Amino acid sequence: MAFLADILSRVKPSATIAVAQKARELQAQGRDVIGLGAGEPDFDTPDNIKEAAIAAINAGKTKYTPVSGIPELRKAIAEKFKRENGLEYKPEQTIVGTGGKQILFNAFMATLNPGDEVVIPAPYWVSYPEMVSICGGTPVFVNTTLEDNFKLKAEALEKAITPKTKWFIFNSPSNPSGAAYTHDELKALTDVLVKHPHVWVLTDDMYEHLTYGDFKFVTPVEVEPSLYDRTLTMNGVSKAYAMTGWRIGYAAGPLALIKAMDMIQGQQTSGATSIAQWAAVEALNGTQDFIPANKKIFEGRRDLVVSMLNQAKGINCPMPEGAFYVYPSCAGLIGKTAPSGKVIETDEDFVTELLETEGVAVVHGSAFGLGPNFRISYATSEKLLEEACNRIQRFCANCR
Ligand SMILES: Cc1ncc(COP(=O)(O)O)c(C=O)c1O
Repeated sequence: MAFLADILSRVKPSATIAVAQKARELQAQGRDVIGLGAGEPDFDTPDNIKEAAIAAINAGKTKYTPVSGIPELRKAIAEKFKRENGLEYKPEQTIVGTGGKQILFNAFMATLNPGDEVVIPAPYWVSYPEMVSICGGTPVFVNTTLEDNFKLKAEALEKAITPKTKWFIFNSPSNPSGAAYTHDELKALTDVLVKHPHVWVLTDDMYEHLTYGDFKFVTPVEVEPSLYDRTLTMNGVSKAYAMTGWRIGYAAGPLALIKAMDMIQGQQTSGATSIAQWAAVEALNGTQDFIPANKKIFEGRRDLVVSMLNQAKGINCPMPEGAFYVYPSCAGLIGKTAPSGKVIETDEDFVTELLETEGVAVVHGSAFGLGPNFRISYATSEKLLEEACNRIQRFCANCR
C-alpha cells in the first residue's frame, strides 16, 4: 500500500507471535494443542512484588515519572549491578524502559546511522535484526554451530567486524538456544573486542538468573573492565521475576549514551509505567528467594526435555546452560515424508507438520537465523512437556 512507510518492507513480523497465534486458532477450533512457543515463565509474579504495586496505587504514585525512571528504581538498579555483577554505575548512568525491548530500541535509535553495521550471532532473538533495520542500521549475522553449542568463536567475531561496525550484540544465556558463555568463552570474545575500539557492546543479560547446575553467569564488562566506556549492559525483570506483562527493562552504560536514550524515550513514552516501576523496586530490593526455587523447576524441565528429544528419531538436542529454551536440530528429518504425505524440506515444514499432525506448537529455527532447527520453550508444566515430547517422538517415528 503506497500510504505505508518504506521501512515496513524491511521489517518481518515476529515468527514467535505468529506461532502462538496459529496455536490459539487451532485451539479455538477445538484441537488439542500444546503450545511450546511462548517466551515467558509460566509462574505468577511473586506476591511481595504485586503488593508493592498495589501499595503504589493506593499511595497515589500514579503520575508521570522522570523519563529515565524514578530515583528509587535507578538506585536499586545501580545497587543490583554492584551486588550481582561487581559493576560500578551511578544511578544517573542507568535508564528504565518499557521492557528490555524498549531499552534496545532506544539504544539503536540513539546511535545508528544509515550504513552502520550491527554484528549479531545466529541463532538470534528475532527482534534484534528487525530493530536494527527499523533504526536504519544493517544487521550482520555470524553463524554458530550445534557442535560449538551455538557459541560464537573469536575468529568468527573477528571476521565479522568491519570499519562500519557500530555494535556487537551479545546475549547469554541466549534466546533461542539457551547457550550461556563461561568466563573463558566470553574472554575469548572480549579479547577480540579490545582490539577494535570503535565497536560498542550491547549485552542483553535478560536471562542472567536462569542458569543451571553450577554454571556461573558473567557479563562482558565484568570479564573485561576496559570495555566499560563502550558497553551498554541491558537487563530486566521480565524473565527473572515472572513480570513479562509489567513491561520493565533497564540498562546501565556511559552517561552520554544514557542521556541520548533518555532523549529518545522522552519523545516516545515519557518513561515506563509508574506502578510497574514501584513493583520493580521491590523485585530488585526485596527477597530473592523466588529465583533459586524457580531455577530448580526449570532445570528439571530442561533435563526432561533434552533427554526425551534425544530419544526422538532424527532429532539432536544439545544441553543448554540457561534460559528456558532448547534448540534441537531436525536435520535428520529433512527429506523424509511426514505422516500427511508431505515431504519435509525445511525446518518450517517440520514445525508445520508437527503442529498439524500432533498438535505441538514450536518455532522453526530459520526464524532465528539458523536451521534446520526448532525452538522449544520449556516454560510450561512437566506433565505437558512430557506429553509434547511423547508426541514429537511419535511424529518422528512416523516420518518415512
Ligand atoms: C533475549 C531477549 N531480550 C529481550 C527480551 C525483551 O524483554 P522484555 O519483555 O522485557 O521487553 C526478550 C523477551 O523475549 C528476550 O528473549
